[in-house]
This record gives sequence, C-alpha cells and structure tokens, in this order.
Amino acid sequence: MYSDKVMDHFRNPRHVGAVENPDGVGEVGNPVCGDMMSFSIRVRDGVLKDVRFRTFGCGAAIAVSSMVSEMAIGKTIEEALAMSNADVARELGGLPPNKLHCSNLGADALHAAIRNYLEKQKEA
Ligand code: FES
Repeated sequence: MYSDKVMDHFRNPRHVGAVENPDGVGEVGNPVCGDMMSFSIRVRDGVLKDVRFRTFGCGAAIAVSSMVSEMAIGKTIEEALAMSNADVARELGGLPPNKLHCSNLGADALHAAIRNYLEKQKEA
C-alpha cells in the first residue's frame, strides 16, 4: 500500500523536534482527522539552515513531515515557498488516494513557518 520511501520516512523520520530559538514557527491541523503538524525553522542569509517538525498524526503524515524537512533544508525562502504538497507526495513515491489528504498538511505547515519568519522580519 505504501512506497518503500514512505515506510522508510515513517520508520526513521528525519529532523524530528524543534529548532531552538526558531526564526519562524508554523502549525496546521486537519479538521477532519484532527491531526496536527508543526514546523520550526532557522534561516540564515535567506536560506533554510534547519527545519524541524513535530507531528501528531498518522504514519503518512509523519512520513510527509520528514520528507518536507529533508526537501526544505538548504533551499532559499523562495524555493521553499514554491514547494507544493504534490511535490512532497511525488518525492515520497506517491501516497494511496485515501491518504493524499495527509500530504496536504506538509508544505502548508512549512509555508506557515516561513510566513511567520517573514512577518517577524517586517516587525524588526
Ligand atoms: Fe490525518 Fe493522515 S489521517 S493526516
């Protein structure tokens, strides 16, 4: 049912946790299943130097969070904002149709953290 990549990221999720003194944080939830995903980021010179996540959700949501963090580290803010939930699902080798909604939280939560960072920059 799940690709090897999904199973690998589910069993060995990368970048779990929270960035200390983060430059931005973002959280999104799926109102249907109640699952939550939160991301924290460290940004230096417009590049995502660190991305960490905490996910309270299903296995697919954990694999998605892990893949999002791996894809995002090293990207510029612009590149990370251009990442879509479909990109993440594709990178994972696809998700079963009834689990596609789980991937919808991934890039959204990352984008929320980046928006939070950009807002803080405006205030500074
Ligand atoms: Fe809720 Fe997967 S079932 S995110």
